[in-house]
Amino acid sequence: MHIACLGGGPAGLYFAISMKLRNPAHHIVVIERNKAGDTFGWGVVFSDQTLANLTTNDPVSAATIAASFAHWDDIEVVVGADRVRSTGHGFIGIGRKRLLNILQDRARELGVELRFETEFDDDVTAYADYDLVVAADGINSRIRTRYEDRFAVDIQTRANKFMWLGTAKLFDAFEFIFEKTAAGWIWAHAYRFDDTRSTFIVECSQSTWQGLGFDRLDGAEAMTALETIFARHLDGEALLSNAAHLRGSAAWINFRRILCGQWSFDNVVLLGDAAHTAHFSIGSGTKLALEDAIKLAEVLDSADVRDRAALAAALAEYQAVRHVEVLKIQNSARNSTEWFETLDRYLGFEPIQFAYSLLTRSQRVSHENLRLRDPAWLGEVERWFAANGPPAPPMFQPFALRDLTLPNRVVVSPVLTYEADDVGRVGAFHLVHYGARAQGGAGLVIAEMTAVAPEGRITPACPGLWDDDQIAGWRTITDFVHRHSRAKIGIQLGHAGARGATCVPQGNRYDVPLGQGAWPLLSASAQSWRPGGAVPTMMTLVDMDRVRDQFVAATRRADAAGFDLIEVQAGHGFVLSSFITPLMNRRDDAFGGNLAARLAWPLAVVAAVRAAWPAHKPLALRISAHDWHDGGIGPDDAVHIAAAFAGVGVDVIDVSSGETAHDAKPVFGRMYQTPFSDQIRNEAHVATMAVGNIYEADHVNSILASGRADLVALGRPHLVNPMWTLHAAAELGCLAVHVPAAYAAGQMQLTQHRKRAAEALMG
Ligand SMILES: Cc1cc2nc3c(=O)[nH]c(=O)nc-3n(C[C@H](O)[C@H](O)[C@H](O)COP(=O)(O)OP(=O)(O)OC[C@H]3O[C@@H](n4cnc5c(N)ncnc54)[C@H](O)[C@@H]3O)c2cc1C
Ligand SMILES: Cc1cc2nc3c(=O)[nH]c(=O)nc-3n(C[C@H](O)[C@H](O)[C@H](O)COP(=O)(O)O)c2cc1C
Repeated sequence: MHIACLGGGPAGLYFAISMKLRNPAHHIVVIERNKAGDTFGWGVVFSDQTLANLTTNDPVSAATIAASFAHWDDIEVVVGADRVRSTGHGFIGIGRKRLLNILQDRARELGVELRFETEFDDDVTAYADYDLVVAADGINSRIRTRYEDRFAVDIQTRANKFMWLGTAKLFDAFEFIFEKTAAGWIWAHAYRFDDTRSTFIVECSQSTWQGLGFDRLDGAEAMTALETIFARHLDGEALLSNAAHLRGSAAWINFRRILCGQWSFDNVVLLGDAAHTAHFSIGSGTKLALEDAIKLAEVLDSADVRDRAALAAALAEYQAVRHVEVLKIQNSARNSTEWFETLDRYLGFEPIQFAYSLLTRSQRVSHENLRLRDPAWLGEVERWFAANGPPAPPMFQPFALRDLTLPNRVVVSPVLTYEADDVGRVGAFHLVHYGARAQGGAGLVIAEMTAVAPEGRITPACPGLWDDDQIAGWRTITDFVHRHSRAKIGIQLGHAGARGATCVPQGNRYDVPLGQGAWPLLSASAQSWRPGGAVPTMMTLVDMDRVRDQFVAATRRADAAGFDLIEVQAGHGFVLSSFITPLMNRRDDAFGGNLAARLAWPLAVVAAVRAAWPAHKPLALRISAHDWHDGGIGPDDAVHIAAAFAGVGVDVIDVSSGETAHDAKPVFGRMYQTPFSDQIRNEAHVATMAVGNIYEADHVNSILASGRADLVALGRPHLVNPMWTLHAAAELGCLAVHVPAAYAAGQMQLTQHRKRAAEALMG
């Protein structure tokens, strides 16, 4: 096979090596514009897993690479004068130059033809004599650019500026160094990669960059200014650039996230950074490039590449396998990139929490991962989180809202049970359901959406608090919860609006109009919630006053029923939400138009609820922080919405999303709504409850310790496991949770079993 490899970075060289190892008869030429050994950049980091993959593929080069590694375990987060160090992180680093030299030597030894100082032709017809053209020409790939349409290229330019520098100062840990300047924060990612040098990547926001005048300084001047800013960390060493061509204004870069929908056409295939990039803050670009190279060599090895169909199948397999890996890494990389883009939010944290937030930023590292890496440090985090209380994982720490103290941070999310009678009363089912979940250890149980008016029900089987007759059923439940558990109990009050008068869901069929027995609907605008759905009446001022008064009356009944907390449902397209989201609010009066106008009535309702609810009892509010729809609400709006409700006395925002448009496109995933909670909590400075696809204790502890929420609600996990919190306590060996006396023996046994299982696992 004749192969032209365009670009002699890690991807191109390692692919050439991998092909030659599989069949020495291949003729492979690598075309590289730089001289051998002349390269940009400093060190690159790897994980142990990457080294294992390299060893399986080519033990010879892997052994040389391993012998050149610098190894370190510690990460130190330095914020001004504060230092927080943790260990057990296990990194290996190597100079990019050294890595390339090793790969060049190995390629030569295997008979690869290396053509340095040669600019390749980006017209692929120039390679008619070759069976395969491999574009391994990096992030600025000329081949990818020229044939952009064939590769379905998706490029996202990120907000921050960075410069990839080196220094002779040898750091003994991977250091993240944050310095405050008059123009804002600037930071360095610094790590030693051999006996004489460290990488020193400097990053800051666009506004800090401009504020510091970097837009007017050339590369050399910028480096001098950076030496001054980071002087106390450099011990007199200079900052270095080994890329003369990068000096000048081009030295500052905005990272570009690249993803291709198609990785090949005909006999042309993309490899490494040409096909995809991963933000430098998670250090995975070289790993991806090398692993691409191995996979491409593998699929080509078993294909007859002169047969076009066989080649196409092999290249499709390469893309299918590698694309999944790349998406995983890009997902983590996006979280990490966003963390560095929004870190102003966290700089008010105490240093230990700031460090924790940084370490868990990509969401690949969790609370329990950190416990494994550095149990002593994690213990310190847990003691800090516990403040003066007894140390226990964050989820078992109490949380105070006004005069109410929740015994822990786990919340049973409101979930409709569709078990009320046809006049909205709760009964035996609800007593058992809520009673069991309260006894299961959660700190707070929030009862399902309860209608403030009969026409505010979603289905005929939804409960209500529009009538005094409905109080007694709830009172039985709250009395039971207060007598037989330590949990507090809240109730979600809502009005279905345009989403009312639907059938009790069957399987996955939600929001099916009732037909017979349907009642007239009210909403911000005369717009059905989904095509074919009933069209509500646009609310008049009289309707708005009446519904407000219904919320107030239900609030008084909730107090009489013994609830500790009210959560107002202002999300999910129900009546209050229909005013807030522009997707449902088409009004042209004082209650439609901009956000302030759309919020006016919901705020008036919540203010009235607050006034009717005893001052010592807390008020929560659920919002849809993201409409997942063009023209809808996004998380930035949600910060304003949350702040506005906090301004009328809401104590905690329950951060949900969606259900405001039938054709919304939510991006589901683990903890997928938690970033909105994070943004609201740390930008609007209001307490939040995170919810949505959070199902492990490890998720809960990670969210709480990193300050992304104050409480964590779980819905579906509690449907199948009322004792979710007690199980989590047993798993974590935590005894700081109340167990009803009748169940204590079971909890003790479970805790012991878990402990033994964990010990067996550790050997
Ligand atoms: C600041 C920064 C820090 C990073 N840190 C890390 C890290 O810690 N760990 C990690 O794994 N990765 C890191 N990376 C990413 C890493 O550098 C890349 O992911 C990796 O180099 C990709 O390898 P590649 O072979 O695909 O591309 P490249 O390394 O970019 O190689 C492409 C090659 O093609 C050559 N070329 C391009 N066009 C032409 C042409 N027309 N003619 C001839 N030759 C051409 C170039 O000279 C170059 O040698 C970092 C990147 C940056 C920017
Ligand atoms: C069957 C069902 C009923 C629900 N009922 C309500 C409700 O009454 N009020 C509400 O705000 N959310 C309701 N939700 C949403 C949940 O409170 C929760 O936000 C959602 O299920 C995501 O959390 P999870 O992944 O932990 O389940 C309901 C969800 C389900 C699955």
